[in-house]
Amino acid sequence: MTVTPTPTAYLDHAATTPMSPAAIEAFTDQLAVAGNPSSLHSAGRAARRVVEESREQVAAALGARPSEVIFTGGGTEADNLAIKGLFWSRRVANPQRRRILVSAVEHHAVLDPAFWMAEHAGAEIVLLAVDSRGVLDVEALRAELAAHGPETALISVMWANNELGAIQPIADVVAAARPFGVPVHSDAVQAAGQIPVDFAASGLDALTLTAHKLGGPVGVGALLARRDLALTPVLHGGGQERGVRSGTLDAAGIRSFAAALTEAVALMPATTARLVALRDRLIAGVRDRVPTATLRGPDPAADGAGLRLPGNAHFTFAGCEGDSLLYLLDSAGVQCSTGSACQAGVPQPSHVLLATGVGEEDARGALRFSLGHISTDADVDLLLSVLPGVVDRATAAGLASAGIGLSRNRGTQEVR
Ligand SMILES: Cc1ncc(COP(=O)(O)O)c(C=O)c1O
Repeated sequence: MTVTPTPTAYLDHAATTPMSPAAIEAFTDQLAVAGNPSSLHSAGRAARRVVEESREQVAAALGARPSEVIFTGGGTEADNLAIKGLFWSRRVANPQRRRILVSAVEHHAVLDPAFWMAEHAGAEIVLLAVDSRGVLDVEALRAELAAHGPETALISVMWANNELGAIQPIADVVAAARPFGVPVHSDAVQAAGQIPVDFAASGLDALTLTAHKLGGPVGVGALLARRDLALTPVLHGGGQERGVRSGTLDAAGIRSFAAALTEAVALMPATTARLVALRDRLIAGVRDRVPTATLRGPDPAADGAGLRLPGNAHFTFAGCEGDSLLYLLDSAGVQCSTGSACQAGVPQPSHVLLATGVGEEDARGALRFSLGHISTDADVDLLLSVLPGVVDRATAAGLASAGIGLSRNRGTQEVR
């Protein structure tokens, strides 16, 4: 008897995406080679060559200079270096500068170091408002700078939001900051390799990258930082990477990161066109089959194509718990993500949705579907075929947990 495998659809590429064959090859080839890039013998020098060639590739893919690339152990580390390193250096230069301006929809890798600096290093945090689509209110930033420019240590606004896919007005942020000489950092973890990112043209002072969202391995990333940007080191040790990020360089990871990024950028026009078409079919299909679903974040149909990441679709499902939807979809073969984080085992509504004005109740029913380089029409078809049944079950579970049961016989609701 032959067993037909159950079809599955991986729709969580924004969490992590599979490594590309080119990245796997670059990684595994290098794993077999000994040599610390800081060693002076020939094996060390060969490893150093790999790192420097990769640095040139990363820089070339993102409009940066090789000397602006600081390799890190991923996006979280690069964000920590940007927030803490910039705050400390700016505060030491002028103790008046205590304010850290961050958008209210930043990833925790930016928010948490900022709040840590408030608790431990005298920082004052200003959360910059976003509109109902999750796009930064640039007027609010301008007003904040007009009132407190000289006391501002740094600004951090992500290039694209990981939950809603909203692309932020980085050029406007940089233009607003320039007259005050305030450095601007952007977490481009979700943008790099997905949409055009040009560090020099952006005017940014620092930019965060990670490899595992664009086809490279987990545990390697970079902070792009202008040469003249003063950054206090967060990791101390051997003095690698301009003395701001000590630690033995991961030649295999770095080589694979560069291969993945180069490939993602080269294939971007074709990938974008394919993903936009898939995403728009997914959005239209969900709206058609599940009338209680609300698209969150920019609407490509109403706001134009340029405001949302090509592979992102995000919905709330009224009356459902995101966790119930996620587990039911998973058992039907569809893997996606809720926007919520768990605290002590209790799901918390997403700070991103709350910042856009969505109520706590609605925010609980959030699901993000994110497409990537291996996504196909079959993935979207599977989601659309199982979603209505899953939403019915999750709605019934939601009503039951609220003390209301559906009487199937009479088709009416009764309170249990
Ligand atoms: C916007 C954003 N920033 C930072 C990170 C953290 O990156 P890493 O997983 O490489 O530490 C993520 C990953 O989820 C992210 O989506």
